[in-house]
Amino acid sequence: MSATSLPASIPAPSRTRRTSSPYAAERAAVDDSPDGGYAVSAEFYDLLQAETDRRLAERRFAAAATRARHAVLDVGAGTGTATEVLLRASGVPVHAVEPAPAMRAALLSRLAHLGADQRARVTVHPEPLAATGLTAVADLAVASNVIACLDPPTRRATWKAISAALLPGGLLLFDPPPAGLPDGCEAAGRLGPVRVGPDLYSADVTRRPHRGVLRVVFTYRVERAQELLREAREAFDMWPVPPEQLAEELDAAGLRVVRAPGSDLVAARRPAP
Ligand SMILES: C[S@@+](CC[C@H](N)C(=O)[O-])C[C@H]1O[C@@H](n2cnc3c(N)ncnc32)[C@H](O)[C@@H]1O
Repeated sequence: MSATSLPASIPAPSRTRRTSSPYAAERAAVDDSPDGGYAVSAEFYDLLQAETDRRLAERRFAAAATRARHAVLDVGAGTGTATEVLLRASGVPVHAVEPAPAMRAALLSRLAHLGADQRARVTVHPEPLAATGLTAVADLAVASNVIACLDPPTRRATWKAISAALLPGGLLLFDPPPAGLPDGCEAAGRLGPVRVGPDLYSADVTRRPHRGVLRVVFTYRVERAQELLREAREAFDMWPVPPEQLAEELDAAGLRVVRAPGSDLVAARRPAP
């Protein structure tokens, strides 16, 4: 997962801080523990990330999607950046799994702007992958910027669900979680600024170790004429996994690690009988 892109757990709706509020300082100091929801981030997600993410998804997944002959599974579709790339590159059905309502709203807005022929090929699943019951449907599964933020039990359940959803010989591609934790708090980058009319939208991203996980905090800002109009924050936890453990977990779910098409991806295949 890239240092500045949003992870997969689902954070709190009420961490918006307006500078005009007398309680701003108190709210800024609130506990930033994630609750999973993307209720803050969904507003900013496409504006700050979609173009970069689209290019990344094209480089990582488009070639494999052109080879899909049955269906493609998009695990954690989010606002649909990768979903759209998969639809454009393939001619097969795409299963877009997205449990967070805020992200799903953006996903459906994106689908609304596609041609009817592409929209007809998408099935949106509004629950976590392990709850979809998808069985032997896809010859390609992608999980873009998702795996790092699944807690270990959910991650293991997700491997099993991917394995079940893949046809024999089917391929899984994903960007791997970080192998370990940083030593301390670090600035992980800035998204934007992107101009919308008179306003500049941006986000600062920090990462710090927190009780064995990586806590990533996004602080979004909207500025006009160098004045801060509003600021909103959302935190996500990410679970590091060393590569050997990843391979073991995939193996336990019936997926064999194979050579990946790029150095920033892991590939695993459900063996053909
Ligand atoms: C950081 S976003 C990435 C979205 C998109 N794949 C992209 O690259 O822009 C991760 C998404 O995974 C979803 N997610 C979290 N847990 C999930 C699960 N168990 N099954 C499927 N999706 C999940 C989240 O709701 C979130 O929208």
